[in-house]
Amino acid sequence: TTSEDLPLVQDPSLPEPAHIKIRDAVPAREQKKRVKIDGWVHRLRRQGKSIMFVVLRDGTGYLQCFFDSKMVSNAHAKGLSVESTISVYGTLVAVPEGQVAPDGHELQVDFWEVIRMAPAGEDSFECCLNQEASVDVLLNQRHLVHRGETATKILKLRSWLLGAFRGHFEKSGYFEITPPCILQTQVEGGSTLFSFDYFGEKAYLTQSSQLYLETVCPSLGDVYCIQESFRAEKSKTRRHLSEFTHIEAEFSFIKFDDLLCRIEEMVCDVVARMLKHPIAAAYLKDLHPEFVAPKRPFKRMDYSEAIAWLQAHSVMKEEDGMPFQFGDDIPEKPERFMTDTIGEPIFLCRFPVEIKSFYMMKDASDPRVTESCDLLMPNVGEIVGGSMRIFDEEELMAGFKREGLDPAPYYWFIDLRKYGSFPHGGFGLGFERFMAWLLKRDHVRDVCLYPRYIGRCLP
Ligand code: 4AD
Repeated sequence: TTSEDLPLVQDPSLPEPAHIKIRDAVPAREQKKRVKIDGWVHRLRRQGKSIMFVVLRDGTGYLQCFFDSKMVSNAHAKGLSVESTISVYGTLVAVPEGQVAPDGHELQVDFWEVIRMAPAGEDSFECCLNQEASVDVLLNQRHLVHRGETATKILKLRSWLLGAFRGHFEKSGYFEITPPCILQTQVEGGSTLFSFDYFGEKAYLTQSSQLYLETVCPSLGDVYCIQESFRAEKSKTRRHLSEFTHIEAEFSFIKFDDLLCRIEEMVCDVVARMLKHPIAAAYLKDLHPEFVAPKRPFKRMDYSEAIAWLQAHSVMKEEDGMPFQFGDDIPEKPERFMTDTIGEPIFLCRFPVEIKSFYMMKDASDPRVTESCDLLMPNVGEIVGGSMRIFDEEELMAGFKREGLDPAPYYWFIDLRKYGSFPHGGFGLGFERFMAWLLKRDHVRDVCLYPRYIGRCLP
């Protein structure tokens, strides 16, 4: 028998370790104390036969672990592969002069155990996750892609950003609600509704929680929700998903300009909160080095001015090659061109009644247009859609009629206009689009856990 066949035995004279996470593995705090840390083998480097360096990952950070000749002289060390789970025991030390490690320190391993070995060879993690693979292959392996450093940063930023939005809303005194996703009414048009059989009745997946937010303004005042919304978008674009995280808010007794200010305040406060968070700010810098926080106030531009801008820049409609006219929808491509050319956030306001939803308030000074806004950001385009809502019952009924909607299932929404109707407005922000803007990602799917769009429903 050679020493390589023998299991590693812990030296009984060593003290009991403290069981810690990598984030707490700070030498100043833990030095000279013996620690035990569990995690995944993130990177592995063998130096000759007698030394091994492992970068261990546990979700809270990365830690370089140094295995000396005694620690590598066993069969497990020989077979150790990336993504195996192990427990390491030892003492934290500063890395020797001339060497580098994450955070400048490493763990000198005095004992270790394998929890589960990951496959080696053709089945190894590195072979499964060839970074050169096509987008679709990488999306099939997204559960493994998440272990990479960029994907991990994005997911952590996602979590912190959701916290920043909640922090902003809480500071502003808004209440959070959790509306249902299964419903029998539509908000943003029938063409993007997912419908299904609900115990013998037709039901839909929510496109927006706006109508439900409106119903609780009379009891809770200003409210918000962070909820998945669903759209049966039949095209693959850089910014369309069939399921996205929708951040929506509704405010009572405000004017259109207050709505714009509140959206602007939210975007800037969330960015400021991120920049104040030391780790989030560092990740943001890694992912989008040239990011600068947008300046207030954001540029305001009416829809009619945007049409004039497109005409002046000879941007033609794709379908017929004709110039844009008042009343035309501005599709993604020309909207992106205009936003990227102007190069700063733009509130695009006052869209024509005909191209907007049934519930939108008309502008008192020009009944052809609504008190509506889209917030456009460079590199993405529209990230927010909002408006003031019709609060007169008769006007609302005319809106249903114009859009060919049966008002019956909206009785509760109509009741809001009966029992103490109130001027109000709100918005919806597409969280993935917001992140794509902030982190300068090409595609909204890059910031999703498991993106959903036409042709993709796995993993
Ligand atoms: O402009 P939208 O359709 O507005 C509404 O749903 C309103 N009812 C919201 C409200 O006033 N409470 O959608 C709002 C935002 C868009 O600006 C966009 O950022 C995002 O939701 N969004 C999508 N994001 C990804 N994929 C899609 N298919 C999206 N559709 C909308």
